[in-house]
Amino acid sequence: TGKFFVGGNWKCNGTKDSISKLVSDLNSAKLEPDVDVVVAPPFLYLDQVKSSLTDRIEISGQNSWVGKGGAFTGEISVEQLKDIGCKWVILGHSERRHVIGEDDQFIGKKAAYALNEGLGVIACIGEKLEEREAGKTFDICFQQLKAFADAVPSWENIVVAYEPVWAIGTGKVASPQQAQEVHVAVRDWLKKNVSAEVASKTRIIYGGSVNGGNSAELAKEEDIDGFLVGGASLKGPEFATIVNAVT
Ligand code: 13P
Repeated sequence: TGKFFVGGNWKCNGTKDSISKLVSDLNSAKLEPDVDVVVAPPFLYLDQVKSSLTDRIEISGQNSWVGKGGAFTGEISVEQLKDIGCKWVILGHSERRHVIGEDDQFIGKKAAYALNEGLGVIACIGEKLEEREAGKTFDICFQQLKAFADAVPSWENIVVAYEPVWAIGTGKVASPQQAQEVHVAVRDWLKKNVSAEVASKTRIIYGGSVNGGNSAELAKEEDIDGFLVGGASLKGPEFATIVNAVT
């Protein structure tokens, strides 16, 4: 479905020096032309990355404030992300949901605001281990998806990232079958609750312990339209391998 999409979520990692090295590795990497590639550096380094990184790769925020900027200490607005050159923002990441405590409604509002202002949204969903073990994987994913669907003005500029929490940063990647099963269910949910067109056009990417060694197998699955990569996106050559996994 659509162009393969690979995002690198650098999370709260890096220094001016390590990021300058990563950017130079990315600039010299050979990337398949038919893949959308996006990286999400920490806010502090967005300007450094934007001014040194090849235009082949777009940049994304890792979060954004829920409305227009103003007296919101510590926050970064959508307008500021656009000003610095971001085309995307990651919203609803599991670390923001479960470590920082953002809820479905707040995340939905953020998505609506960002889309209305013209940013693309990487909308993250995914179940925790105990939820999977209790057979609630689909319920949780659908509930998180519904909060986005209820809030957003359009699905044109949304990429859905399925990131099972038990797979994030654990080295326990979902099997291609486990990921494919959820991606099919998500697509089916979109078909029933949004439209057949949105279901067929929306890219559903997988995240959680994706690396240079497992990405090719995952990419073979029909409904895996790309990846959201954490740890392995901090290494330029390995990230390039993942970008090129689709071929
Ligand atoms: P890891 O690739 O480090 O498991 O992180 C995945 C993730 O959370 C990307 O947003």
